[in-house]
Amino acid sequence: MKNNISTFLEAKQKNEKLTMLTAYDYSMAKIMDNSGINGILVGDSLGMVCLGYKDTLSVTMEDMLHHIKAVSRGSENALVVGDMPFMSYQTSVYDAVKNAGRIIQEGGAGAVKLEGGSTVYEQVKVIVKAQIPVMGHIGLTPQSVNMFGGFKIQGKDELKAKDIIEDAKKLEDAGVFSIVLEGIPYKLAKIITETVSVPTIGIGAGKYCDGQILVYQDMLGLFTDFTPKFVKSYGNAGEVIRTAFEDYIKEVKNGIFPSEKHSFNISDDIIKKLY
Ligand code: KIV
Repeated sequence: MKNNISTFLEAKQKNEKLTMLTAYDYSMAKIMDNSGINGILVGDSLGMVCLGYKDTLSVTMEDMLHHIKAVSRGSENALVVGDMPFMSYQTSVYDAVKNAGRIIQEGGAGAVKLEGGSTVYEQVKVIVKAQIPVMGHIGLTPQSVNMFGGFKIQGKDELKAKDIIEDAKKLEDAGVFSIVLEGIPYKLAKIITETVSVPTIGIGAGKYCDGQILVYQDMLGLFTDFTPKFVKSYGNAGEVIRTAFEDYIKEVKNGIFPSEKHSFNISDDIIKKLY
């Protein structure tokens, strides 16, 4: 079944959990889509897990579009959400709607995601007014890493927790169809989930969120620079892949690969004429 923003809103009303993963290319998007996932986020985590940057701040609109297009081509049923990179919406309301439009029009995504609460209220309102669905993202928002002084769990004291609740309400008022809650205490995520009418999608925000999202490289052991506490391993694909590479190297060196099965034949009469 094709997922869209109504699927997300209805899931919350029916108390059904939503599932999301990140993807950055066609092949992985296709596997994910076939697994029955509700949504695929082309996150700006692209910068870290695919491009090797230390954070997400260097990711550009062109980087995002390149990958959003590939994921859109591989997704039939999942709702594709394209992340708005750093400085693509903070600069002005005009930039925000223009770049959100590119993610839909050029990238083929069904929705955009951007970070922040009350600070991006106007941007969200204008993008929604342009008929583009927006997913909010609050808590440990990676584009604010320099303001946070590192990737630190947010909302642990009363004032910050209240700010995050206010941010969620502001986003709801601005018209988002869902909100990612990242890196906040699970009891705070529970309050937010009970407060807003749109589904909350948690990452490092505990089990009371309306849905969950993970970066696929994290849950499959493909990104090992660091593993956050909230990541659960669902298989060690990194190990499987490394073993396959080692087997390939061994077989090539020992003349086992390619065998006749993986080669193309020609008649010996023709071969004789080639010498
Ligand atoms: O960029 C990303 O992958 C994200 C998720 C972690 C929510 O924003």
